Amino acid sequence: METSSNTSIKNPTRFSKVTSVPTNKIFDSMKIFESSTNPNKLNLAIGMLFNEDQNLIEFQSVKMAEKIIHEAKLNKEYPPIQGLPEFNSTVQNLFFSPDSKVVTEERILTCHTITGGAALRVCAEVILKFLPKKIYLSNLTWGPYKNIFSSLEIEYFPYYNSELKKLDLEAFLSYIEKIENGSIINLQLSSHNPTALDFTPEQWDQIVPVFKNKKHFAVFDAAYLGYGTGSIEKDIYPIKQFAENNIEMMICYSSAKNFANFSDDVGALIVVLNKKEPIVKLKTHLVVIARSLFSFVSLYGSRIVSTVLGNEELREVWKKDLQGVIERILKLRLMVIEEIERVSRERGKELINLEFLRSQGGIYMFLDINEGCVDKLAETFSIFLCEGGRLNLCGLQEDKVKYFVESLKDVLLN
Ligand SMILES: Cc1ncc(COP(=O)(O)O)c(C=O)c1O
Repeated sequence: METSSNTSIKNPTRFSKVTSVPTNKIFDSMKIFESSTNPNKLNLAIGMLFNEDQNLIEFQSVKMAEKIIHEAKLNKEYPPIQGLPEFNSTVQNLFFSPDSKVVTEERILTCHTITGGAALRVCAEVILKFLPKKIYLSNLTWGPYKNIFSSLEIEYFPYYNSELKKLDLEAFLSYIEKIENGSIINLQLSSHNPTALDFTPEQWDQIVPVFKNKKHFAVFDAAYLGYGTGSIEKDIYPIKQFAENNIEMMICYSSAKNFANFSDDVGALIVVLNKKEPIVKLKTHLVVIARSLFSFVSLYGSRIVSTVLGNEELREVWKKDLQGVIERILKLRLMVIEEIERVSRERGKELINLEFLRSQGGIYMFLDINEGCVDKLAETFSIFLCEGGRLNLCGLQEDKVKYFVESLKDVLLN
């Protein structure tokens, strides 16, 4: 009889030359965090929303929607490949009201895409098929873009200036003035990951004319809608300006953060063009792309989102849910900054540039510290951050702010 050990000797595998790629540091840190016995341990790397008890935040509006869905006893037939019409329209309404020009002129299409990451992936396929095969990303930016857009040439535009500790608008503007007309530029809509620095409305007002003159194409990543300014209406300011100025764009939406429905995350790709005619044709391609990448979307998450957004009462509850998270983040941000300020005063040396920290927003805080410090925080203090010292403020608890800042002091000043 063949045993498992002699099977592997006799029967070679064609995968024996496969080498591993580095594992995802964020997911690795989750495992180390789970096994740590340090009572003060903090996992600030993963971008999920936690409350003061270190439990995942659950939105009241989502629970109410789940009850409605459960009671409706919906069947489980295949959905349309581009997703439920009510999901697509309610998500689209977050960005464009039904009476907006792009909607009344039928120059827009919205397609359900599993998650926000999948929306970006479908977007990459659309670019590959129909547009110049190159995308510009901000420097710094979210790591997974590199793989998502790997079928395209990638270049980085100046965004965060580490020396000045600020967002470098002048460098960005002169860069996008210089690159070829019609370039495709990825812009994170709000709560920039990882720098926590977003353009202000006044800065967007300077960016819009350059996009218009140069006929650039915008790929907006809306993974944190509502969290940049604390208001969805204010967060979508650039999208409104781009639309009013007839700048074509794609928007990649994720519900993970603004519904706190991480396990039932859903996303959508929205395409806004200047002409109606290609929209219907493009839709047929999106169906083919979605079918080849992931076939059908699961409906559970999209039913939750469309039930919440499509019901006036639930929508109000949702806005309160969002407000609760926004206030929690704001409070923790201020507490961390005040504690850093106190420790800096005590030591007579600024621990981290305070003006830089005060200029940040969204769900993250960015410390801009080196890898050695990030590793030491993990190894010595069981505090897990992302590369560069990006931390999710919603992973922190008020009674651990002091421990966090004292640990940071130890790592940075000793
Ligand atoms: C900047 C950015 N874009 C896109 C995504 C992906 O969203 P999703 O989790 O829905 O795939 C994330 C998730 O963390 C993100 O940070």
